[in-house]
Amino acid sequence: MQTNLFLAHQRQNYLIYSEYIPVSENKIYILAIESSCDDTGAAIICDGKVISNITASQQEHSKYGGVIPELASRQHMTAILPVIETALQDAGLQKHQLTAIAFTRGPGLLGSLMVGVSLAKSLALSLDIPMVDVHHMQAHIMAHFATEPFPHFPFLCLTVSGGHTQFVKVNSLTEMEILGQTLDDAVGEAFDKVGKMLNLPYPAGPVIDQLADQGSPVFAFPEPQVKGFDVSFSGFKTAVLYFLQAEMAKNPRFIEENLADICCSVRNSLIHTLMKKLKSVATNTGITHIGIAGGVSANRFLRDELTRIGVEEGWSTFIPPFSLCTDNAGMIGIAGYHKFIKGLWCSQDVVPAARMEW
Ligand code: KG4
Ligand code: ZN
Repeated sequence: MQTNLFLAHQRQNYLIYSEYIPVSENKIYILAIESSCDDTGAAIICDGKVISNITASQQEHSKYGGVIPELASRQHMTAILPVIETALQDAGLQKHQLTAIAFTRGPGLLGSLMVGVSLAKSLALSLDIPMVDVHHMQAHIMAHFATEPFPHFPFLCLTVSGGHTQFVKVNSLTEMEILGQTLDDAVGEAFDKVGKMLNLPYPAGPVIDQLADQGSPVFAFPEPQVKGFDVSFSGFKTAVLYFLQAEMAKNPRFIEENLADICCSVRNSLIHTLMKKLKSVATNTGITHIGIAGGVSANRFLRDELTRIGVEEGWSTFIPPFSLCTDNAGMIGIAGYHKFIKGLWCSQDVVPAARMEW
């Protein structure tokens, strides 16, 4: 009887939670799957808490200086089943005990998303359990709801990753709106592209961050001036390129002799731009609960600056643990859990979305 109820729910897009009564136990166990880019992730979430979180990061792209989409989807296919098995084992759970499956529907690389979405659909079908589709960028923000204290609503989140840079007003656990964003490159992309100019391996963000700690911000780059709540990083990237070309023409060893100082100048300049805009968004909206999320939120200078400025401005600041900053399935599961208990399930007709509406 419960089975029929599940299937009925899956045929429609969004249904009401009150119609659903969890099977035998009182606990809700969700298997979450993440495969939007080059990390294959699986996690188990019990009543909204991450109890296992496994990520297989694809190292193969490093030598190409960026993610190769075809290679990424093939690697997901190899990794996804062992990653799921390990997540289940770590949680001490068997597949038949799962209540629902949450998965990243987008945005991301279509071929990569396809692997996670197809597997989620077939698992949900074979286990007769509901599915919840998750927006990858919203899930980054939901990392703040892994452990208490939780931010109060409305909460302002600077969401910074390899493909996105957004100032998001979070109204509730499932409702968010973008107040501003990058007009061109994401800040993670700016780190990665500058890293390429400096011959650093991909992804260059963490490498630049580490090298920056040994240097000083002695080189100045022009700060992009963008009106309103948006930002732009493509001019910055070009300015760094011209600067490096001019210096290398004078001294071909300029990069190797000044690597730490270049990294520190680049990192601090990018983070200053973000923090200046974040301050303006906070002042204009009057929001005082402020956080960061996404891969670039692992940046040490960004974390320190948010804390320092937060004290100055009287904000309550929120910084996710390192394990939930870069792509992982734990955050997908937290987002999925909150959609699940609101009855925001999806049907078997669901398809991956390289670009996904907010
Ligand atoms: O969120 P994420 O793991 O994947 C996407 O959704 O894009 O973010 C990856 C991005 C990459 O651009 C990477 O260079 C950057 O996050 N990143 C960092 C740091 N750790 C990762 N950027 C600056 N400093 C870091 N410590
Ligand atoms: Zn991400």
